[in-house]
Amino acid sequence: MAIARTQVGIVGAGPAGLLLWHLLRQRGIEAVVIEARSRRYVEERVRAGVLEQGTVDLLNEIGVGARMRREGLQHDGILLRFAGASHHIDFRQLVGRSVTVYGQQEVVKDLIGACLEAGGQIDFEVTEVSVAELTGERPRVFYRDASGTARELQCDFIAGCDGFHGVCRPAIPPGVLKVYERDYPFAWLGILAHASPVAEELIYSHHSAGFALFSMRSPQVVRYYLQCRPDENLEEWPDTRIWEELQRRLEGEDPPPLARGEIFQRGVTPMRSFVTEPMQYGRLFLAGDAAHIVPPTGAKGMNLAAADVRALSMALGEFYARAGTRRLDRYSQLCLRRVWKAQRFSWWMTSMLHRFAQHTPFEQRVQQAELDYVCASTLGSKSLAENYVGLPFED
Ligand code: FAD
Ligand code: DHB
Repeated sequence: MAIARTQVGIVGAGPAGLLLWHLLRQRGIEAVVIEARSRRYVEERVRAGVLEQGTVDLLNEIGVGARMRREGLQHDGILLRFAGASHHIDFRQLVGRSVTVYGQQEVVKDLIGACLEAGGQIDFEVTEVSVAELTGERPRVFYRDASGTARELQCDFIAGCDGFHGVCRPAIPPGVLKVYERDYPFAWLGILAHASPVAEELIYSHHSAGFALFSMRSPQVVRYYLQCRPDENLEEWPDTRIWEELQRRLEGEDPPPLARGEIFQRGVTPMRSFVTEPMQYGRLFLAGDAAHIVPPTGAKGMNLAAADVRALSMALGEFYARAGTRRLDRYSQLCLRRVWKAQRFSWWMTSMLHRFAQHTPFEQRVQQAELDYVCASTLGSKSLAENYVGLPFED
């Protein structure tokens, strides 16, 4: 068994774990990251795309924002489309802020590149990961590295940034955590394609056949999503069916047809709301999807992960500056306030925009009235805008 020592052991090289490594480094705190997948796999995993200004600011502060500033697309609003008409929600005018569209895998590439360049350690393709002695002063991470060597990492703290299916949350003894969850009776079929954007801003479209979303990655690459069944079989979705369904559900004032192109990535994302309380056990701190999942309609998943590790890095900074454990003690409470607001917003956007098979005609009318209200009322639009661009960080 090869034994090593570090201050913070980070399990998972997703946005949460990688961002945490950089935030700790900025404070002079040493950390080691271990990751179950290969570098190539995590860099190519296609997921979220919308960054709140607060997330953009964090990436800039740690010095990895150069490519994002060049290639990211600043969006000052979104279009809500229902009953065939578009309604502009102008974030800049309503709340004076905007968002940046930049793929999660680009963020991950930038974070990994900068970490390795700075001499940081990320052990990819590790197996047999477990965490132990979580309530003592020397918690440990055990794993086997890519070459098969058994390793023990002795830490002061462990950051469980290993996503929803990781090992850290299940390592907490039964009865400690309270779980709150909700499943949705649908999923999203997402694609990436080489085609021109159909609009300058994202379109969230309510349609009787199901929700559709237009997003983009660059002036040449589009990202679309279609509401589908949770067990949807991609084999049943040849390209022509995808394009026809998008065309139908995004119908509006834009001159048809929608620009089509080669679809080079596709996948089905389940929809779930999940929160675990608290987000800490002894010296194990959970962050990002390891502690909570939001349905993607509010574009909050990656942004919440960033907010968690921002709070965790400040708390660890306070601890290592010998200024006490006040922030560490409050970590869970502070994060959960933001998490629940993002849960509420993501649930609300999901409920307002999707087709629910079980809805009665009454509930369908209420849903239409909600969309009408949000678009017609400045206060309604303002509330959507304020949440979408990201609520301010609370310290
Ligand atoms: P992850 O990104 O899940 O990172 C966790 C990392 O830990 C992974 O790299 C994983 O390989 C690693 N890991 C797991 N187990 C171990 C282990 N035992 N040891 C070591 N490493 C381990 N959000 C949106 O806003 N919009 C979207 O369109 C959207 N689409 C999504 C599609 C999918 C399929 C999924 C799963 C999520 C999507 N999300 C979306 C949510 C968003 O991508 C996540 O909220 C975000 O990735 C959270 O980052 P994270 O670092 O907490 O977790
Ligand atoms: C994207 C994903 C989302 O979940 C969302 O609400 C908006 C855009 C995207 O992948 O671009």
